[in-house]
Amino acid sequence: MMKYILNDQVIDQDKATIHVSDLALLRAYGVFDFFRLVDLQPLFFNDHIERFFNSADILRLKCPVGRKKLKALILEVISANQIQNSGIRIVLTGGESPNGYSIGKPTLIVINEPINPLPESHFTEGIKLISHEYLRDIPEVKTINYLVGIYKMPEIREKGALDLLFHWNGKISELTRSNFFIIDQNDKIVTAGDGILKGINRKHVLEISRQKFEVEERDLFIEELAGAKEAFITGTTKKVMPVYQIDDLVIGDGKPGKITKDLQKMFAEHIETYLKEN
Ligand SMILES: Cc1ncc(COP(=O)(O)O)c(C=O)c1O
Repeated sequence: MMKYILNDQVIDQDKATIHVSDLALLRAYGVFDFFRLVDLQPLFFNDHIERFFNSADILRLKCPVGRKKLKALILEVISANQIQNSGIRIVLTGGESPNGYSIGKPTLIVINEPINPLPESHFTEGIKLISHEYLRDIPEVKTINYLVGIYKMPEIREKGALDLLFHWNGKISELTRSNFFIIDQNDKIVTAGDGILKGINRKHVLEISRQKFEVEERDLFIEELAGAKEAFITGTTKKVMPVYQIDDLVIGDGKPGKITKDLQKMFAEHIETYLKEN
């Protein structure tokens, strides 16, 4: 049986339970983080642990273990399970609530789950998105609330798209589970600077982008899409993924652009280097 973590212990998978009065269940109050393993090695481990604790702090949730202990428990689980092509999901719930509304004592659950690879064509040909007017709650926090994204799945599928592109008051923020970038007419890489979850892959892609291209983190307006030469997304399973269409608008010539392809290659190399050095 697979091993998970419950609070401060490694346990059998079927022992990972929460109370029926937990705020995560009753009110969707909780945070999480997710990263993938490459040959059982956590990718961008410290970044994800830091973001997890930051999300927890902002929602006033106290994790039952500190950073060091959490990392040690996760490594123990990875080593016990030996699941290639998997990810680690760290979840911290709002806790058992006496009145269904006030924060209780949070429960920590860590799951080691297999990752089904995305079709190769998504990386080589790109994906389509549907725009949707929506502002995520407390966007800088990786909350467990994915209500709109899941609710809209049938429509997304029906339109042959992969995901929603959120915008609010004319400003583009992000996707349900990825960050969004365009390449403008001057070959500048542009992405939203705030009102988003700061993706760990976004951070690393921006870092490598700055070595070769001009980068702007600023408000990105929906009208700018029409003039974009290229568009792409970043995320833990998406890596760098080209976008060829948003609603009826074809981006550039409808094929992954030169800079996006360059970044895909640079990011793969960056990951190789990270894995060697960590
Ligand atoms: C709302 C949101 N934005 C962006 C991302 C991308 O973040 P990361 O690069 O850390 O996977 C995620 C990841 O799930 C997300 O949920």
